[in-house]
Amino acid sequence: MRISPIIGPAALPALAELLHQSPPSRLFVLADTNTARDCYPRLQLHLPAHQLLTIEAGEAYKTLETCGIVWSWLTAYQADRHALLICLGGGVVTDLGGFCAATYKRGIRCVGVPTTLLAQVDAAVGGRPALTFRV
Ligand SMILES: NC(=O)c1ccc[n+]([C@@H]2O[C@H](COP(=O)([O-])OP(=O)(O)OC[C@H]3O[C@@H](n4cnc5c(N)ncnc54)[C@H](O)[C@@H]3O)[C@@H](O)[C@H]2O)c1
Repeated sequence: MRISPIIGPAALPALAELLHQSPPSRLFVLADTNTARDCYPRLQLHLPAHQLLTIEAGEAYKTLETCGIVWSWLTAYQADRHALLICLGGGVVTDLGGFCAATYKRGIRCVGVPTTLLAQVDAAVGGRPALTFRV
């Protein structure tokens, strides 16, 4: 089920309400080094128990290799198909996390918490997550 974007100060309480009404089996948060430092402390206040994975920041890390790290992390913490992944970051994190969520156990729920303007108006809205492949 797709939900509409929630914008403004009500967004984090709305996320908390979503998690309360439809609790995932396990909750995961993906961030990069910058959003883990600058944004996660605020998000964390609205979340029940969860696991956090911090990846390196930057376009260079939007790769299949990083995707493998995310899949391994989900597996290590026994994410099943009722788990939920929150992607806290700019377009790199929402693209990478969205791709990983869509391809893990035929797809798990995913919520984007976009932290750049580009991710808020484009990357995290269209449902077109992708990785960068270099051949
Ligand atoms: N899927 C789509 O439809 C779609 C559309 C447009 C762009 N994109 C993708 O989006 C990516 C670019 O996104 P971007 O411009 O957000 O880049 P980004 O995700 O690399 O973020 C830019 C930098 O800002 C930092 N950052 C993010 N939020 C922050 C915050 N609140 N405080 C401090 N630092 C913060 C990040 O750590 C990073 O270093 C590209 O990979 C592009 O391909 C995807």
